[in-house]
Amino acid sequence: MERISTGIKDLDMMMENGYPSNHTILITGTTGSGKTILGLHYINQACRDGKKCFVIATEEDQEDLIAQSESFGMQLSEYFKDKRLGIDRVFDERTEYIKGIMAHHVADIDELQSDIIGLLDRIPKDTEIVLIDNIGVFTLNMSVNEFRAQFDTLIRGLAKKKLSSVIIMDSASNERMGGIAAYSVYGVIVTSIKDDPYTNKMGRTIRILKIRNTKIPIDPIGFDITSKGIVLIK
Ligand SMILES: Nc1ncnc2c1ncn2[C@@H]1O[C@H](COP(=O)(O)OP(=O)(O)O)[C@@H](O)[C@H]1O
Ligand SMILES: [Mg+2]
Repeated sequence: MERISTGIKDLDMMMENGYPSNHTILITGTTGSGKTILGLHYINQACRDGKKCFVIATEEDQEDLIAQSESFGMQLSEYFKDKRLGIDRVFDERTEYIKGIMAHHVADIDELQSDIIGLLDRIPKDTEIVLIDNIGVFTLNMSVNEFRAQFDTLIRGLAKKKLSSVIIMDSASNERMGGIAAYSVYGVIVTSIKDDPYTNKMGRTIRILKIRNTKIPIDPIGFDITSKGIVLIK
């Protein structure tokens, strides 16, 4: 099976050299646990490898995303300039839309952006690698059934386009949606910040919950966030 690097060599080695190509991996975890940074490693490496990448960021604008990556020495601004990397403006659109609704005192802010299937049309034709961060914002007013229908359609659409995708979903939304996002994806990674009972200190971990067709470790993997981004603790 062909593989795409996670962007972290030590992590690749724990899943037979990376995420399976042409499939979707779900990353879930609490706020600040390292989901976005894990996603940035993936995109940065794929750009370095000359692949066409596209990021749909719902919680940050382009500048913030690039600035965050640069704090880890990643070159996303260059890839963005030479068009290897596209960043969708869904964040700006969302904030503009909210401002519009507020200005006109329209009541149905509930209708706000619950179009998950529509994300498929935003991905440029020649894209190979996709990161969606954070799909949870689309689920605030959704029933579990509607989410399941839309999410499954998204996953099938991504597969049809032969895209290698990472979808991030904050754990609060994931739990609200009954954890069903995990069913239709090829793999699930969970990042967390937890109290380490041995050292009595807080520590970060990555758990590889499942990856189809792949041998994975059962134990959580400790990691730090450093000036180089995520570094696994040996
Ligand atoms: N340059 C950096 N050096 C060290 N830690 C950082 C740096 N940038 C961000 N972090 C840490 O990463 C955390 C955010 O990680 P992020 O991937 O954005 O979380 P999530 O997307 O899961 O909410 C911050 O709370 C901070 O602790
Ligand atoms: Mg994030």
